[in-house]
Formats: sequence, C-alpha cells, structure tokens
Amino acid sequence: MIGIMGAMTEEIEPILEYMDDLKTEQIGQNRYHTGTIGKKAVAAAYSRIGKVNAAVTASVLIERFGIEKLLFSGVAGAINKRLHIGDLIYASTLVQHDVDITAFGHPLGFIPETGDFFASDQALNAIAEEVALKLKIPLGSGVIATGDQFIADEKKKRWIAEKYKADAVEMEGAAVACVCNAFNVPFFVLRAISDAADMDAEFNFDAFLKSSAAISADFVINMVEML
Ligand code: ADE
Repeated sequence: MIGIMGAMTEEIEPILEYMDDLKTEQIGQNRYHTGTIGKKAVAAAYSRIGKVNAAVTASVLIERFGIEKLLFSGVAGAINKRLHIGDLIYASTLVQHDVDITAFGHPLGFIPETGDFFASDQALNAIAEEVALKLKIPLGSGVIATGDQFIADEKKKRWIAEKYKADAVEMEGAAVACVCNAFNVPFFVLRAISDAADMDAEFNFDAFLKSSAAISADFVINMVEML
C-alpha cells in the first residue's frame, strides 16, 4: 500500500480523481480514501493544515493502513529566488524552522533524540528524477523548512533562508518526515510553488493554490505508476 498525503482538500482532490475502487473511512476527524492507481493500492488523505495535523495523518496511514511508503503532495512558498509560481521542488532534507531549544545549547531546529534535518528517501527521489526526465518536467530539489506559520514577510523569509539554507517553506513536510523517520517508512515530499512567502503571499496563495496543487498531484500520480 502506498500512502499519499496532502494538507488541504485542494491538494488531495486531484489524486482522488485518478483513483479507482474508492472506499472512504473516517478516523478521528479525517477521511481516508483507499483504492487503486493503475495496479497499485493507495491510501490517500489530507491532514488539514499544520505540523500536528500532518503528524496525526501520517501516523494513521502508517499504523492503520500499513503503508510501505509515503508520498506528500502540495504547495509551498518559494524562498530560493530561482523558484517561481508553479515550479516543482522535492525535499532532499526537511527541518522544523519553528523549533527553538537554543536556551539549552541546542542548534535551532534541533530536538534531542530526534534531530533537526530529516533526509528523504533516495530511491523515491531517484524515481522522481526519472519521471521528470521522461516527461521533460523541470524539477528542483532542496531544503524545505516547515513551521506552524504562514510566511508572508520578507524579514521572516530571509531569517529562514539564512538559518536553515531553505529553498521553500510550508507547514507539514518536516512533521511527516519526523513521523516516517520514527516508523522507518520511506517518504517523499513534493511541492509546487504557490507564492514567494512575501507581502503578496496571501493573495498569490489564494490565486495559485488550486493550479499549483494540481501540478504537484499530477507529478505524484506519474510517480506512483513508476513505483
Ligand atoms: N504554503 C504555501 N505557501 C506558504 C507560505 N508562504 N508559508 C507557509 N506555508 C506555505
């Protein structure tokens, strides 16, 4: 079983459209959809926004649905100037930019017995590169910084860029990475850019959420077919 996750309904709806034999089950406050994409068994769900919600859904997918790998699809704010609206980036590593235990001498983002930067699965990343090559879709990779904040401010954006060398920012990826790491489940986090985490971010997010979410979902569907 392959797990596919998004944070918002707009991120998962395009995946459900590709799934056959759909069955839906409610667990807690989320709906989990099982079915197939081609010959592959899939469990898909959106978590709702933020790290805690994402951790709940990733845990349920792993523990209740027995997924063997997790693919996350969604949108992100660009930090790296080379990323524009609609561009795809997958996480090579992810970090929680809002974790701060520096008072005890730990580096920013670091949690004892957990760590800071989570590396995504290299085999899944290689499949993504193959899909991009085959379909001639430009695909970037880099550091994705996650926090329970919608970033719409140049100063905060620059701070995240400096402290974490982040290329994109969002609100779930590192939580999913943390859960998958804890359960030893390979994971892949893909994001299409919806905004530049700047003063126009709220406007652009609303304008481009749907189109960028669809770009990311299409790519993930192509990946599932190659798994
Ligand atoms: N997801 C998409 N854009 C974002 C932003 N600017 N900040 C946090 N998460 C996002």
